[in-house]
Amino acid sequence: MKDNSTVSCYESHAQAYDLYQSAVVPGYQEMLDLVAEACRRYLPQEAKIIDLGCGTGNAALAVLRKIPSAGIFLLDGSERMVKVACEKITRAHPEAILGCKVADLAENDWQEGLENEGYDAIISTLVLEHLPFDRYQEAIAKCYSRLKPGGWLLAAEGYSEEGSDMRQWFFEEMEQRRKAVDPELSEFVARLRDENETHYYCSKAEKEKWWRQAGYVQVNVLWQYLCIALMAGRKPF
Ligand SMILES: C[S@@+](CC[C@H](N)C(=O)[O-])C[C@H]1O[C@@H](n2cnc3c(N)ncnc32)[C@H](O)[C@@H]1O
Repeated sequence: MKDNSTVSCYESHAQAYDLYQSAVVPGYQEMLDLVAEACRRYLPQEAKIIDLGCGTGNAALAVLRKIPSAGIFLLDGSERMVKVACEKITRAHPEAILGCKVADLAENDWQEGLENEGYDAIISTLVLEHLPFDRYQEAIAKCYSRLKPGGWLLAAEGYSEEGSDMRQWFFEEMEQRRKAVDPELSEFVARLRDENETHYYCSKAEKEKWWRQAGYVQVNVLWQYLCIALMAGRKPF
């Protein structure tokens, strides 16, 4: 895998991730709960789901709490993140893991080994914003190919909207929340992310357009907290 500084950054703080993320990122658990609720509402009990950019498996775990008989395929660019996710899911839901894969979503072959038209949903939380826009469009097209007809793409990402201070407001909230976390951990993670993470932000309207061009229908924003929004789209039957 080519060097990817965003992925390396997560590789370096896989163990500290959960503590930091849940304490510092506004709306994080609410977002995961809504992804899980959308899965409960839209998918069959035995749903097969890919957690794309699974991190430490928090989205997958939230989904399994709502639909314990679902199966989850975990994929992330960071080997350590996948390992933490696998261990976490195995402890709580030993039968649930369909497979695990370390792959870079910016590369061309990440979807290999994932069954064509094999999944009821692909969930992806705070991941696709790390892809340059051409790669983003390729990634959602590849997701489309892996979804069953009628399957759902559920992706929570950061957005920027012209004339809005939502992103600045969000980061100010993060700074406030950082004060409640152990300063050493907080400084370590915040500096790591600041120096190594790359984000590509655009408007929801732009991404909705790309989703429709890729073939998705029923494209809608299900939830938003300042600059973070959860978008849903469906592969037609
Ligand atoms: C903010 S974390 C989100 C993790 C998890 N989805 C969650 O909600 O907690 C971003 C994740 O995306 C992964 N990631 C970022 N860029 C990636 C890429 N190009 N390919 C694969 N994974 C990537 C990182 O390794 C990290 O685990």
